[in-house]
Amino acid sequence: MERKPVVIPQEALEKEAAVCEQIKALWASRGRTPRAFVDTYGCQQNEADSERIRGMLRASGYEIVDTEEGADCIVINTCAIREHAETRVYGNVGALVHTKARHPEQKIFLCGCMMGQPQVVERIKNSYRHVDGVFNPHELWRFPELLQSVLRTNRRIFAVDDSAGNIAEGIPVVRSSDLKAWVSIMYGCNNFCSYCIVPYVRGRERSRRPEEILEEVKGLISAGYKDITLLGQNVNSYGKDLGLGVDFADLMAEIAQLPGEFWLRFMTSHPKDASKKLFDTIAKYPRIAKQFHLPFQSGNDRVLKAMNRHYTREEYLKLAHYGRQIMPELVLTSDVIVGFPGETEEEFEDTISLIEDVRYDALFTFIFSPRAGTPAAKMDDPTPKEEKNRHFDRLCAVQNRISLEIHQGYVGKTVRVLCDGRDKDLLTARTEGGRLVRFAGDDSLIGQFLDVTITGCTTWSLVGELR
Ligand code: SAH
Ligand code: SF4
Ligand code: F3S
Repeated sequence: MERKPVVIPQEALEKEAAVCEQIKALWASRGRTPRAFVDTYGCQQNEADSERIRGMLRASGYEIVDTEEGADCIVINTCAIREHAETRVYGNVGALVHTKARHPEQKIFLCGCMMGQPQVVERIKNSYRHVDGVFNPHELWRFPELLQSVLRTNRRIFAVDDSAGNIAEGIPVVRSSDLKAWVSIMYGCNNFCSYCIVPYVRGRERSRRPEEILEEVKGLISAGYKDITLLGQNVNSYGKDLGLGVDFADLMAEIAQLPGEFWLRFMTSHPKDASKKLFDTIAKYPRIAKQFHLPFQSGNDRVLKAMNRHYTREEYLKLAHYGRQIMPELVLTSDVIVGFPGETEEEFEDTISLIEDVRYDALFTFIFSPRAGTPAAKMDDPTPKEEKNRHFDRLCAVQNRISLEIHQGYVGKTVRVLCDGRDKDLLTARTEGGRLVRFAGDDSLIGQFLDVTITGCTTWSLVGELR
């Protein structure tokens, strides 16, 4: 069923902007510039949200700093995807007791995906009393008024809207880079993969209007951005809720025809909705980077079904082969989960054989982590931890060999790269496919597209010489 996305009215956002001005005036009357630290866990979606949080803080007069020590405001943007991510957040938030003891005026906020879980919010309420405010992803646009409330009253505030989510346009942004930019094109997820917490904490799929996205991208290009990544949990379903007849491939095609020198990328795709049309669009436009992150999660049909992924091994392989066939230079990456409840030795072997077949350039590998409230957390999971670890290590070894072999194939070739910084003695750059390249050169080259001849490699990166 189509559902119109909930768009936050412009007046409400203008009210938030006015609150930013009031906070700024408050600090001006105190005669000093406040400092804010924003710490981000999790995926690019969270990075993009943190850029908006920094935007609201700067509009409120805060200087953005890179340490919690002495900051007047700390915002921790959390991730709930695996237990490990949550454990790190609890540890670091716990340690802030001491930071705050040295700077009692400090205001501490927690936001992001963990705050979309009621049991987490309860735990913060009861056991982390130095935390002043909590807001979940749906409440992000209201951060200025939450901050103002805490500054005025010194009372804790918990803003945890349990709706299906919204879209807020025009929130100020402080971008972390002046070369690479994230552009969220949609929010939320409707897929409910049985292991995954994201749909519960980020709400239903909702797409930004194409004209809003185009405006943002045009602004980025004219500001000199050269690497633009369109973001969504499943970009392939972009536009379905809008009913405008514009799908993700159409949106990409339109952006790819904007004038300027840039690479356009996207994250992430779900194989069930990845169409041939999308592959054809990537192949057609030079500005669309020949890179595709297409998570497969498992190479076994029983496991894929239990994961609620809605595609088979064969369907997945067909897509991957099609991509490779029409774009031999395509860089393919993926996500995979090892140790899903009940995964047998043979089922794990199917994952290994899929990796050997597709030969990914790189793989993000995860051990299954049960998430409270998801169906997979209730499934029987008799496999001992040691066996999962053993499978994990084996899978990494197979992938590392393949990554190294693929990288060795670059040696002697000249590739176009975008130089993005410096790491000690060498400049760093990314290829069109997102591979890391290091080479000697002058800082003035940062921000430029260059041709580099690859002279050597490791599993993770390439080294080269400027042409
Ligand atoms: N929306 C993206 C994925 C976001 S989460 C997509 O569908 O492609 C990133 C990755 O984390 C997932 O692809 C999956 O491999 C992994 N992941 C998600 N939930 C997990 C869990 N409970 N345990 C282990 N890995 C998980
Ligand atoms: Fe999670 Fe699946 Fe949605 Fe990705 S598509 S965010 S793995 S539920
Ligand atoms: Fe984590 Fe939320 Fe992203 S759970 S991976 S930060 S969508």
